[in-house]
Amino acid sequence: MIDGSPDYRDFGLEFPSDFVFGSATASYQIEGAAHEDGRGPSIWDTFSHTAGKIVNGDTGDSACDHYHRVESDLDLMAELGLESYRFSIAWPRIQAEGTGAPNEKGLAFYGRLVDGLLERGIRPIATLYHWDLPQALEDRGGWTNRDTAYRFADYAHHVGEALGDRVSMWTTLNEPWCSAYLGYGSGAHAPGRMNGADALTAVHHLNLAHGLGLVALRDVARNDPQYSATLNLHVVRGEEEPRSEESRAEAIRRIDALANRAFTGPMLRGEYPADLIEDTAGVTDWAFVQPGDTALIQQPIDVLGVNYYSTVTVRMWDGVSPRVNADGHKDMGGSPWPGSEHVEFLPQAGPYTDMGWNIAPDGLEDLLVDLHEQFPGLPLMVTENGAAFPDEVVDGRVRDVERIDYLRRHFTAAHRAMQRGVDLRGYQVWSLLDNFEWGYGYTKRFGIVHVDYETQQRTLKDSAHWYRELISSRRIPQ
Ligand code: FCB
Repeated sequence: MIDGSPDYRDFGLEFPSDFVFGSATASYQIEGAAHEDGRGPSIWDTFSHTAGKIVNGDTGDSACDHYHRVESDLDLMAELGLESYRFSIAWPRIQAEGTGAPNEKGLAFYGRLVDGLLERGIRPIATLYHWDLPQALEDRGGWTNRDTAYRFADYAHHVGEALGDRVSMWTTLNEPWCSAYLGYGSGAHAPGRMNGADALTAVHHLNLAHGLGLVALRDVARNDPQYSATLNLHVVRGEEEPRSEESRAEAIRRIDALANRAFTGPMLRGEYPADLIEDTAGVTDWAFVQPGDTALIQQPIDVLGVNYYSTVTVRMWDGVSPRVNADGHKDMGGSPWPGSEHVEFLPQAGPYTDMGWNIAPDGLEDLLVDLHEQFPGLPLMVTENGAAFPDEVVDGRVRDVERIDYLRRHFTAAHRAMQRGVDLRGYQVWSLLDNFEWGYGYTKRFGIVHVDYETQQRTLKDSAHWYRELISSRRIPQ
């Protein structure tokens, strides 16, 4: 038993000196400058410009205008005392159509960003793919086309050649679960397809891209960086009073297979789980997995990135009552759960963030401990955790007490996991800035820094001041 507050509201807990405190963003969510310096269109440009896809018809055309404000945003990071900055590279800035020679202006932008980080003593953590696939590749099948994985490797090679002497940690993919299932299954994310077989095909080609991308990066990197992938592993819980123990276990197993083991299987064990193949047999025969693929996908990584926000609670549907589907994702008509559409997602106990996601710091502790037990010796990093609340600037100040509480509780959870033996290397708060929250546009504010989208003025929220204190003292502040 670990001592501490039963609701995870601890303070004073100390983090080790080599624990890396940072913050995270993603290219399409903050950069803007959608048509500048040779950037081609991505699937998110197309999707956000399609009527009805994004709340208020918002797009990432201007976003936080970070592309033009990179110097002052870097100063902001230094002011916060960040030790690392996790950003993503927009593939269509490097290759407008996803193929061919790299665009020097695109590479130069990220070069300036990385240099600016290093000058300020901030470690660059670069993600190659945070969902902005060049539209030209989608036109050729996107992630349902095996060739996209090879194009990704070429892209990784170009980026690695340009930045492979300075980036501290490389992440191949951010949340391939979202790319595959929300992009090709549910239709909530770009490219907005709604087909279960396409979603599972995308799962495999994303996994393949991860493996090929790592090979390409290792080939050209010159500064002995760390390599990683970031997954949004689902913390899947069963009903408290299930109809039967078997159905409870079955619901958990199915969602764990689709959401988690579809990625950790090939990436960390070199195989797809047999039960996943069986569960989805009515959707696809998995013929897209070619001999040698899973061995290729299972490249060594130094750190597994974990994004965590909340839990899900599942049960098998009785086939009669209206199916409950509170899985936390926007319903656009399709299903992100191919072959397991008869699993229900139950509403969960609050409190909730502005996304409607339940706040459950124990879920983070459980997830980290579970991963440590499943994959002993694999270091972990929280690559995203944070919360949206409807913040307002009043007299120059944002009193986001709920976000501070959220962060306090999740840092406590991380600390407890470390006390239980988890090798946790760091924590990247999502997000540095309020930004374009995908299907929700600018209506959800995740930043520890407030952005006024009219003036592009940045205001440090109270949570940013709290985080600065945590970083400088290495203890969870009062
Ligand atoms: C994650 C995404 C990130 C952000 C947060 C809230 O799924 O990786 O871009 O949207 O959710």
